[in-house]
Amino acid sequence: MVELPDEAMEVEFDTVAGWTERAVRTLGPEYAVPAGCRGSGSESALRWLADGLELSAGSRMLDDGAGVGGPAGWLAAERGVRAVCAEPMVGAVQAARRLFHLPAVVAVGQELPFADGSFDAAWSLGVLCTIPDKAAALAELRRVLAPGGRAGLLVFVAVAPLTPPLPDGNEFPTEEELAGLIAGAGLRLERAGRADLSASPPEWLERAAAVDAEIERRHGSDERWALAQEQSGRVGRLLADGELVPWLGIATAR
Ligand SMILES: C[S@@+](CC[C@H](N)C(=O)[O-])C[C@H]1O[C@@H](n2cnc3c(N)ncnc32)[C@H](O)[C@@H]1O
Repeated sequence: MVELPDEAMEVEFDTVAGWTERAVRTLGPEYAVPAGCRGSGSESALRWLADGLELSAGSRMLDDGAGVGGPAGWLAAERGVRAVCAEPMVGAVQAARRLFHLPAVVAVGQELPFADGSFDAAWSLGVLCTIPDKAAALAELRRVLAPGGRAGLLVFVAVAPLTPPLPDGNEFPTEEELAGLIAGAGLRLERAGRADLSASPPEWLERAAAVDAEIERRHGSDERWALAQEQSGRVGRLLADGELVPWLGIATAR
């Protein structure tokens, strides 16, 4: 039996997903990708990952833990590849369908509803830290990839002791633990790097901020907004203090 995400994560990834969708509808479709790429951080990280996945027009691609679909929306617009989105939060799945018109299913990464070898490529961005059983999630990712298929990962890894308060429901691996988990799942790490989370065009950052302002305007007095802000603020502080780093990797299915 797979454990469901705790309350703080439900607010951050489900309630706020619905609010984000409504804010984007108010502001306009050009706000959807910046607003929808919260875990993945920056356009340069998406570009690094998409290049590493060696996608072509017909690639069968999975976005595992897709959130509201911002990274998959970016991929469709920039590379012409329409990913299938899998994500446990119903509000986020609905947002991915409505904002980006992408196929999206409600599913946890430990039990993906796809046959073995269904995809040529997959990515999972900012997701592994939210899953306690990372070995099971990586084994599932490997299972749904065809042999030789490529996986892109963005993982927040701990490079120093983490100073509390820590974000609820997150467990950050060390780089060594992550390398062991990847190898243990039958994936071969081909290359690794660090994401520059600020490397997005200025209009991207402005639009993400405008969506936040619109959510704040509608829901600023809702305690769930404060809780979600606190959660993401804790991750932001750990990154700013250099205790966490945004690790990027490309691996192939053995
Ligand atoms: C930081 S967000 C990243 C969302 C998206 N990948 C992005 O880059 O914008 C983490 C996502 O992982 C999802 N998640 C939580 N537990 C999960 C699980 N067991 N399997 C798959 N996804 C999960 C959350 O619902 C949330 O959408």
